[in-house]
Amino acid sequence: MIIHLRAAGVSLVIDARGTRVPVLVHWGADLGELSEISLASVADATVPAIGPSSLDVPLRLSLLPTLREGWSGRPAISGHRAGSPTIEFDLSLDRVTGSGLCREFVLVDAAAAVTVTVELELTPHGVLRLRHTLTNRGATAFELGSLDVVLPVPDRAREILDFTGLWTHERRPQRTALAHGTWSRESRHGRPGHDDAFLTVIGAAGYGFRAGEVWATHLAWSGDKRTWAESSPLGRVVLGLGELLAPGEVSVVPGGSYSTPWSIAVHSVDGLDGLSARLHPWIRSWSTITSPRPVVLNSWEAVYFDQGMEQIAPLVDAAAHVGVERFVLDDGWFTGRSDDRRALGDWFVDAVTWPEGLHPLIDRVHAAGMDFGLWVEPEMVNPDSDLARRHPEWILGGPSAHTWRNQQALDLGNPEVFDYLLGRLNALLEEYPVAYLKWDHNRDLLSGSAHRQTTALYRLIDAVRTAHPTLEIESCASGGARIDLGILERVDRVWTSDTNDPLERQEIQRYTGLLIPPEYLGSHLGAARSHTTMRSSDLAFRFATALFGNAGIEWDLTVASGAEHAQIAEWIGLYKQLRELLHGGTVVRADSSDPAVQLHGVVSADQQRAVFAQVSMAAPGSAIPPALRFVGLAPDTVYRVTAVTAGANAQLIQTRPPAWLESGGVSLPGRVLETVGLARPMLAPEQAALYSVIAE
Ligand code: DGJ
Repeated sequence: MIIHLRAAGVSLVIDARGTRVPVLVHWGADLGELSEISLASVADATVPAIGPSSLDVPLRLSLLPTLREGWSGRPAISGHRAGSPTIEFDLSLDRVTGSGLCREFVLVDAAAAVTVTVELELTPHGVLRLRHTLTNRGATAFELGSLDVVLPVPDRAREILDFTGLWTHERRPQRTALAHGTWSRESRHGRPGHDDAFLTVIGAAGYGFRAGEVWATHLAWSGDKRTWAESSPLGRVVLGLGELLAPGEVSVVPGGSYSTPWSIAVHSVDGLDGLSARLHPWIRSWSTITSPRPVVLNSWEAVYFDQGMEQIAPLVDAAAHVGVERFVLDDGWFTGRSDDRRALGDWFVDAVTWPEGLHPLIDRVHAAGMDFGLWVEPEMVNPDSDLARRHPEWILGGPSAHTWRNQQALDLGNPEVFDYLLGRLNALLEEYPVAYLKWDHNRDLLSGSAHRQTTALYRLIDAVRTAHPTLEIESCASGGARIDLGILERVDRVWTSDTNDPLERQEIQRYTGLLIPPEYLGSHLGAARSHTTMRSSDLAFRFATALFGNAGIEWDLTVASGAEHAQIAEWIGLYKQLRELLHGGTVVRADSSDPAVQLHGVVSADQQRAVFAQVSMAAPGSAIPPALRFVGLAPDTVYRVTAVTAGANAQLIQTRPPAWLESGGVSLPGRVLETVGLARPMLAPEQAALYSVIAE
């Protein structure tokens, strides 16, 4: 049988004739309606010639490529049984089940005594999901080396985009031309890490945000992983991805099975924005978010560890005064936690800092009309803690394991540890009306047991959420070191980065937002002088940057002036007014010939309204900067474009604004706004200005 799945402009053709492992003939642009005869012709027409000095059967890349079928690239499966050499897999198709846009291919290998089920789904949004499950049919344990998803892409796809980064500088894009060989990214942090490859994109050279054909993959997994692009003289280009397993980490007992995390694969003929246009609506279709994203005030950069009613109460009052909706008490509230050297693991409210517990604080927060959030870091322990003293055997890697930020990880796979943490979290959530947990994770595991730890973490979060169904959770890992679609199934927000510097944030949010919808991206207004980069920035730039996410504040408002309070209140008012658009619309980013000047925005699903931000990252490269090209609008709809003020105006370096702005705005069809654009007002470096675009 030949299977043709089609959704939202994507086609998938799978040749599942006979008993060979099925072949992915096409993953890409929609091929239109094809008869059975045409489908057979498509499949047959792609069978390659047999060349000289080569395998004597045509080399076709299957859904699970192995050496046995002639694939000398990285194989999709490896493993062995104790005392025996590596297995030469020789899988064949036993049966195909499923209907609609879902299929399951059951592959068997009698000699290896394994079954591998390949689950595949093309969502109505055109997002492809794949997962393999290996079942051990033998009498001895099966030691799994790797089980990966490998997807062929056309050979015109040669330019890779993926990401790297470090603390406070996550999601730095890097572009690489793929030559013969493998471009491989591996994470061994026990969490995706600040340098997570995040999305591996490949396309014909020169693709941008709005144009070019691209294919991209992401592994929905919060532990160790690898993702790669490979090309060889064989003439095939593939994308591969899977969990990175340490030797012996996954031993499948007789009758037992191992399932890979879901691999997510996306294709677009409309550049990188086209990827987001598929991913965001799909993520929204299963998101746990059910209510408007509240404006948050987080205490961290305001007070750090200096907690107590005297310090926090004025912050609560100031937060309420400017319109904050959720007050989050960050690190420092539990027994003995006076700095980052002690107390992790002792999840009891500190009796000195909070002599009456957290009730008086929470009452004050509630009385001011806000809900209450609390910071925790359940997976960790400080050697200087009652917990570590009582249970040194609970420490991952043992008590002598290296510390990192003075802390060690707990072995979550140990049922006693799991029960202790679940018990403490449940007790806190039962004693206090906590609406939201900021769930932090401030070190790499460096232990070789990321699989066990990650699966236990998922179980722990799931158990907490089951017991407290209305609780919201934010995933934080020293900022953005654990942002992936595995964790996103379990949380309502991610802490995008520990930096609130708007210049850094523009880039971090732009690229994190390729995959993650903006409503998830915690984006805070920090103090004028950034605590992480020491760079100072104007309020208008900070406002316009923090607006495009789940906005919040991380600034000691008690030292902000009355005028600043009024400006912040105005900005929060605008956020609330735009929230539905910002968190439900289509994210668009205009390509720019000058990286110093940018334009991005969100267009409502019905294309009736949009908000854009003009961003000046540095001094422009030309005296007359490139036009503002408002992208993503309906070509034939006439829109009114006007400037928006959100509490503060950007600094300009022009002696006179462009005429369209001087006259209070302009009305033009979307087609003109995108292809011709509007003369760009000249912002000073490190500034941003907002525009409202409304259909007339
Ligand atoms: C790292 C987080 O990313 C910060 O926002 C803050 O919560 C600190 N941990 C607290 O220790």
